[in-house]
Amino acid sequence: MSNSSAGRETWATRIGFILAAVGSAVGLGNIWRFPFQVSQEGGAAFVVMYLAFVVLIGFPAMMVEFVVGRKTGLNAVGGIREFAGGRWKYLGGLFVFIGFVILSYYSVVGGWILRYVLGSATGGYMAQGTGEYFGQISVGMDALLAHAVFMLLVVAIVALGVKRGIEIAVKIMVPAIIAIFAVLAVYAFTLSGAGEAYSYYLSPDFGYLIDNWQSIVPAAAGQGFFTLSLGMGVMITYASYLSEDENLAIDGGTVVIFNTGISILTGLIVFPILFTAGVDPETSGAGAIFVSVAEALGDLQFGRLIGVLFFTTVAIAALSSAISLIEVVVSYVIDEFGIARERATVFIGTAIFLLGVPVTIDNVMVDLYDIFAAQILLVLGGILLVTAVAWIYADKAIDELGKGVTSFSGLDQVWLWIVRVPVLVVLVVSLYLGVDGFVDFLQGDFAEFLNSL
Ligand code: TRP
Repeated sequence: MSNSSAGRETWATRIGFILAAVGSAVGLGNIWRFPFQVSQEGGAAFVVMYLAFVVLIGFPAMMVEFVVGRKTGLNAVGGIREFAGGRWKYLGGLFVFIGFVILSYYSVVGGWILRYVLGSATGGYMAQGTGEYFGQISVGMDALLAHAVFMLLVVAIVALGVKRGIEIAVKIMVPAIIAIFAVLAVYAFTLSGAGEAYSYYLSPDFGYLIDNWQSIVPAAAGQGFFTLSLGMGVMITYASYLSEDENLAIDGGTVVIFNTGISILTGLIVFPILFTAGVDPETSGAGAIFVSVAEALGDLQFGRLIGVLFFTTVAIAALSSAISLIEVVVSYVIDEFGIARERATVFIGTAIFLLGVPVTIDNVMVDLYDIFAAQILLVLGGILLVTAVAWIYADKAIDELGKGVTSFSGLDQVWLWIVRVPVLVVLVVSLYLGVDGFVDFLQGDFAEFLNSL
């Protein structure tokens, strides 16, 4: 970072900003949640809807956050308070709450990843059925311990202020993910179940889409926001370090392309392996990535080594995302209550850890937190942000978006009207359907779980 004229730090290089944003976006959302959602929503029909969401809704919504961040030069909470003022300052409170909820279960899943680094090194999951192994480590004492270790890592990194180190890690992580995942995707291509998997994953059944749009739409909206780190101001914070000669749309586009590419690649690994092993994707649920990759590794030469590399890379991806989540909460507490960074981080980390403890009781608790956060909270955050920025303070937004754009003007009005009407309408419909789906879940799977206690 170098000092700008205003005295606030800006990114020394544009690549520094893009890396940090990619580090936040690429994480468990791509590698764990994406295949999980695809398998819940019937395959390629979901993939098509997800892609539409990322390009038509997610990308313009990302510009909304970028505009607030660069204009104000502040973090998520301070940024929205300064940009929109008045009652909109409570939106910052919603951001903090969302960060709290998401990180609490994100860390539990991050713990599973850490467990699989270990399991790869010892060959633990190769000795027994991988589904069985996942069932064992994903709940109870094992999961609780791993959750604690993951949160500890997050707190240590943020409290010690070694986020610079994470940026370097991200620089290695992205090429590493692409390389390791490409190798596994090629391996998956050679499997006997590949053909069937590709038609499931890549060839959409539009009839299915039409019949099931009421669950596919909110799922795709939730996934689109989750994977791009939208809806809770993370991208406000990152863009606050950007200088005015940066073209926001090009930077955002780069983040979207890398992020989407990694999700698609993950699916190319997961589904051929599941189909070859005769596992119905729908039944693998939240375990899809663990069960499938572990299955393949048992089969491969150097499987243990590849496993360690694979899960370590995923762990780094998860950590760099988790840091962006906790940072929203930490910077708020520091600003608001004037507490020192270390104390604030330890305190918040402990609270988030505790909120995540119930998630280790049963996998249905992951669903509970996850559906609530992604399909309701993030979409709600997105709706409020878009309303404030594109309807109420549009002039400021347009002015800011135009900075750093030399070659083309006029697109800003296109952007404004896209976010004002179609984006907002789609998000409101998604939220409505998402609440509906959440109620269904509470009355169905969750009630069943409570009865079984
Ligand atoms: N995008 C990250 C992932 O895909 C998770 C994440 C980080 C996130 N920051 C966020 C999700 C903010 C929603 C909001 O793993």
